[in-house]
Amino acid sequence: MKANSFYLAAALALSAIALPAYAQHSMTPEQKAEAAAKKAEAEAAAAAAAAPAEPVASGDVDTSERTIWDGVFTAAQAEAGKALYTTNCQTCHGATGRGGPGGPAITGAFFNKNWVDSSVLDFYTFAHTQMPPGKAGTIGNEQDYVNIVAYVLEMHGADPGASEMVYNEDQLGNIFIVKKP
Ligand code: HEC
Repeated sequence: MKANSFYLAAALALSAIALPAYAQHSMTPEQKAEAAAKKAEAEAAAAAAAAPAEPVASGDVDTSERTIWDGVFTAAQAEAGKALYTTNCQTCHGATGRGGPGGPAITGAFFNKNWVDSSVLDFYTFAHTQMPPGKAGTIGNEQDYVNIVAYVLEMHGADPGASEMVYNEDQLGNIFIVKKP
């Protein structure tokens, strides 16, 4: 009787040790894929954050005074920004930028209220230095954030144009946010 309970205790102890290893191997293919995707995402974010964009030289770009309604970004860059927005911003700000349970609207009337008479540089700087909360600036480099801003402007109703909006403070600082004419 005494020997039996010893073996029982030993067997229980062994199974307790073995369980975590067994549990790891019992991850479903979906769980494994999810874990791998999370790891890849974290690595991509780290790599992107580690490779800041060089500002584009002012001599190479349009730095004239414009507004967000002058076709100041390209459709292609808004598309690139959309992919990043969908992954990193949409959960809080909504699929159309009209806000959600986790964050305010960043388009429409709310955007007008907070940002009219500011420059795109101000808006970009806020996004780059504050968003997403707790991991600001980590989802890509400066140009990636400029592309997200292009997509936000598109969601707000601005049409794309022929030339790209780039990471250049003279350019971004001279594009003004005004109400739709
Ligand atoms: C976890 C939720 C969350 C995520 C994800 C998130 N935000 Fe926000 N965002 C907020 C909250 C909350 C505020 C309001 C607080 C503040 O202004 O600091 C805000 C404010 C903003 C504002 C200012 C709005 C205004 O007019 O006051 C901008 C612009 C913005 N976010 C852009 C972004 C972008 C771009 C991303 C993706 C890179 C992003 N946010 C991701 C929660 C989030």
